[in-house]
Amino acid sequence: MSLYRNIISFFKGIHEYTRNGFETASAHFVDSDLDVSVVGRSFMITGANSGIGKAAAIAIAKRGGTVHMVCRNWERAEQAREDICRETGNKEVYVHLLDMSEAQKVWEFAELFKKRYRSLNVLINNAGCMVTSREVSTEGFEKNFATNTLGVYILTKGLFPLLERSSNPRVITVSAGDMLLQKLRTTDLQSEKGPYDAPMVYAQNKRQQVVMTQEWGKDHAGVHFASAHPGWADTAAVAATTPRFHRLMQGRLRTAEQGADTLVWLAVSNSAGATPSGLFFQDRQAVPAHLPLAWTHSPAEEELAFMGLLDELAASSRPPAAGRFRLSGQSVAQSSV
Ligand SMILES: NC(=O)c1ccc[n+]([C@@H]2O[C@H](COP(=O)([O-])OP(=O)(O)OC[C@H]3O[C@@H](n4cnc5c(N)ncnc54)[C@H](OP(=O)(O)O)[C@@H]3O)[C@@H](O)[C@H]2O)c1
Repeated sequence: MSLYRNIISFFKGIHEYTRNGFETASAHFVDSDLDVSVVGRSFMITGANSGIGKAAAIAIAKRGGTVHMVCRNWERAEQAREDICRETGNKEVYVHLLDMSEAQKVWEFAELFKKRYRSLNVLINNAGCMVTSREVSTEGFEKNFATNTLGVYILTKGLFPLLERSSNPRVITVSAGDMLLQKLRTTDLQSEKGPYDAPMVYAQNKRQQVVMTQEWGKDHAGVHFASAHPGWADTAAVAATTPRFHRLMQGRLRTAEQGADTLVWLAVSNSAGATPSGLFFQDRQAVPAHLPLAWTHSPAEEELAFMGLLDELAASSRPPAAGRFRLSGQSVAQSSV
């Protein structure tokens, strides 16, 4: 088990994030919260072809929502789309091809999506990765930061105008409990200094997502923002990036459906919409974004400075003029709409 997960287990109790933890927490869930129809509402889910994202897509499609799956691999996404349609009987499920680590493509995708669709009610920033050695994208961004932080920032910012003119809009970002041991770092965003520690970089990105959500919640009153920890769920990412942890936790990890439960609750329930915007959730409850020892708090100015840095990086990769976007290429044009 990684050092991070050992320390978090110490503070939170190994029980809370596991399947048992979900079962204990779910005894207090209000069943009728998810007893809703979302026919006529549209949901964009990044990384919806596997794990927690696919489970969320199934839960939303079952309730009648239109699902836009944003995925980087056409075959995997198309296979998942077929599974989702077959399992739910809902045909309003569309695939859009996008690699979240390619900043300019993320801008272009958001621009094209806004042109093509009249509304987007919910964005679920679920795609995430922990690339285990330092890799740099063609645009010069470290891959984990590019995918988990900058891509999320650009997609959300690019879609704001569409979300803001849609009814009851929500943005949910899938963070991780690992972020509890990270203080926001505004220097070395590209992890260029010192040895590359992938779990630490991942956890820092997840802290950054929580800070972005909190700051957006303050600035955009018309949209409901939330970040969430799904618990420890048995998914491809966990098996591939933390194999020892995965082996040790056999039988105790949550299912992908249990991991997706809070996202689905945040996306569809009236109860979630009634909570203050910008908070961090676990098992359908707003929970503190810091452990009791609280060395991870940052001054408000630093959090604002971080948003400013993201804005600069995002602007540096923004294509010059919306009118120049090509309608071909890896974007909505390749969707199955
Ligand atoms: N499972 C857990 O215990 C756990 C705990 C805390 C947080 N999380 C978070 O939950 C989210 C979902 O992860 P998961 O556990 O469900 O793992 P998963 O099954 O591996 O799903 C991750 C998804 O993200 C996609 N993705 C990764 N990099 C991408 C990129 N550059 N562009 C587009 N899509 C990309 C993957 O696509 P491919 O299939 O093409 O790789 C996949 O669809 C992640 O944000 C993860 O950090 C999971």
